[in-house]
Amino acid sequence: MPILVVADLHLDMWLQAGRDPLAALSPELLGSLDGVFIAGDLSNKPKVRWQSMIRHLARYVPLEHIHVLPGNHDYYDHVLDGDDRLAEICAEAGANFAQKSVTVIGDTRFLSCTLWTDFALHADPGRAMMAAQRDMNDYRYIRCAGAGFRRIRPSDTAFIHADHRAWLEEKLSAPLAGETIVVTHHCPHPDLIGERRGDLEAAYGSNLLPMIEKFQPDLWLFGHTHWRVEATVGKTVVRNVSLAYPGQVPAGEEEGIFLRGLVSAITS
Ligand SMILES: [Fe+2]
Repeated sequence: MPILVVADLHLDMWLQAGRDPLAALSPELLGSLDGVFIAGDLSNKPKVRWQSMIRHLARYVPLEHIHVLPGNHDYYDHVLDGDDRLAEICAEAGANFAQKSVTVIGDTRFLSCTLWTDFALHADPGRAMMAAQRDMNDYRYIRCAGAGFRRIRPSDTAFIHADHRAWLEEKLSAPLAGETIVVTHHCPHPDLIGERRGDLEAAYGSNLLPMIEKFQPDLWLFGHTHWRVEATVGKTVVRNVSLAYPGQVPAGEEEGIFLRGLVSAITS
């Protein structure tokens, strides 16, 4: 049951740079995959670009094996309350939309959602929210249809975080024989967020250690930080599977990065 999970594919930027990261994967590996999860940030401008990005992925993997979870970039020039449109684009293309979705492949259950953050990583969520609103593109390029198409605020993404977190807790509470793998865009581990982001760190991840310790999923894969690190919490491996921007990945390193998200290789 080889499943590949990759976050921060930013495929639009790679193709604009004249590089195709997927070409680094061997036809043997691609042909053996039972599923590919894009754990957020497939591309900017989803209403214009997702269709062609999914078509590009389908050159390598059958459409029915492609699962797309939106990251923050996948809402740029779109609306935060626009998951229905993203689901429609996936359905029209023949791929699967993986927001708040339970996907069972073999005897493994994948729980996937964007996650966002609670801005509570450090002592002062109010300060972290102000910093995010001031300095992060998310709060410039994403709007909220249900609020007159105004720009989103950190309180909007914190609200969705609470919803996604409650959904994850509910799903993790349901017993299941077999493995459970959580796939999110944002980081669930306070030590895996990266350094020197100051007040912005709380926009990259939250402290979900109590949830991980309580439910002990086999694996929790995430992206967003572009910082390829991992940690073990009890029996749970928490691992970043960001590909990242083309300028951050020297030619020849793509395959090794992709293989970090090859689930059978991590859990075996
Ligand atoms: Fe991201």
